Amino acid sequence: MKRKLIKWTLRIALGVTIPLAALLLYVQFSYRQKFSTAPTGIRASNSPEAIARGRYLVTGPGHCESCHAPDGTERLQTGSLKGLIGGLEIKLPFGIIYTPNLTPDKATGIGKYSDEVLASALRHSVKHDGTALIPFMSYNTMSDEDIAAVISYLRSIRPVPNDVPEHDLNILGKIVHRFALKPFQAGEAPPKSVVPDTTARYGKYLALSVGNCAGCHTNRGKTGDFIGAQFAGGYRMPAKTGTYGTPNLTPDPETGTIAQWSVTDFIKRFRQGALFPDSPMPWKSFGVLTDNDLKALYYFLQSLEPVKNAVPRYTPHDAD
Ligand code: HEC
Ligand code: HEC
Repeated sequence: MKRKLIKWTLRIALGVTIPLAALLLYVQFSYRQKFSTAPTGIRASNSPEAIARGRYLVTGPGHCESCHAPDGTERLQTGSLKGLIGGLEIKLPFGIIYTPNLTPDKATGIGKYSDEVLASALRHSVKHDGTALIPFMSYNTMSDEDIAAVISYLRSIRPVPNDVPEHDLNILGKIVHRFALKPFQAGEAPPKSVVPDTTARYGKYLALSVGNCAGCHTNRGKTGDFIGAQFAGGYRMPAKTGTYGTPNLTPDPETGTIAQWSVTDFIKRFRQGALFPDSPMPWKSFGVLTDNDLKALYYFLQSLEPVKNAVPRYTPHDAD
């Protein structure tokens, strides 16, 4: 009787362990799955206009420094000048990842990558080694011309050597990497170019293709999937002193944060900067937005379908 029990326990244990071990080995060796995507044909240029547009997109609405500076959001609120040298440590349930150095240093930065490689990262979410990027960025539908401008600017800045550590993914991270990460699939082809103006149409472009307003102002589940109405807020973002709930940006008269604001109020609010010192919103970057771009964003947000969603703005950690 006892022997039978041991035999069965062993069988079951092996029945579970061997396939599991095989899966883990498989993941260990295959998680760096490579993808090939259609060439973008996007090329950087030395034109002063392209570089100026790129500088505006990178330091303003694109807020690249909120992740590609080693002090991230803090930098965006205090204005330290560590720039785009990367190395921000992001702790996730599936490991620790580090943002790359975006200065054109040949050894440790983007100096070693072609325009096509950089354009594919932004357009298709494919990394320089052909694997899919962990989805932190949402510039996939930026116009060809704006992606070219961003790369032109990055090529024009001073190279700063900063050797950023490799990601340290745990086995869960490798499983996610192997089975969940994919290049971005565009619904319709992103525009070749866009002409900035103050229309809601251009505001939509800024909000969705450049500023990632929807990425934070839409509620998300545990794995980062969107579970709320777009722009209706409610995403809980932990920061140093407390947890922020992102405001509802739809024009619902009762719960929409900006529903009663005039366009002048909206512009003024962006000129003020962070009212909460550790706010995750990149206020410093958005503070350089032109009046016209802020108008476009305002008209776009006011054109949205109102959604009722009351969001607690801030909960200090000691109240949790
Ligand atoms: C919300 C955070 C965040 C923002 C904002 C952000 N990035 Fe990134 N970026 C990352 C992370 C994280 C990675 C690495 C992901 C990975 O390795 O899977 C990355 C990777 C990249 C890569 C890929 C490099 C390679 O090795 O192939 C490029 C290029 C890049 N970012 C450019 C930009 C530019 C340009 C901007 C602004 C327009 C920007 N990033 C804004 C988080 C961000
Ligand atoms: C990285 C996350 C993030 C991004 C990206 C982001 N926001 Fe926010 N936003 C927040 C958080 C968190 C708050 C609440 C804390 C605060 O007010 O600073 C907030 C607050 C706001 C407020 C309310 C300010 C007030 O004083 O009531 C407005 C308006 C706003 N965001 C608009 C935008 C727009 C427009 C964009 C895109 C251009 C954007 N946000 C992108 C996280 C983000």
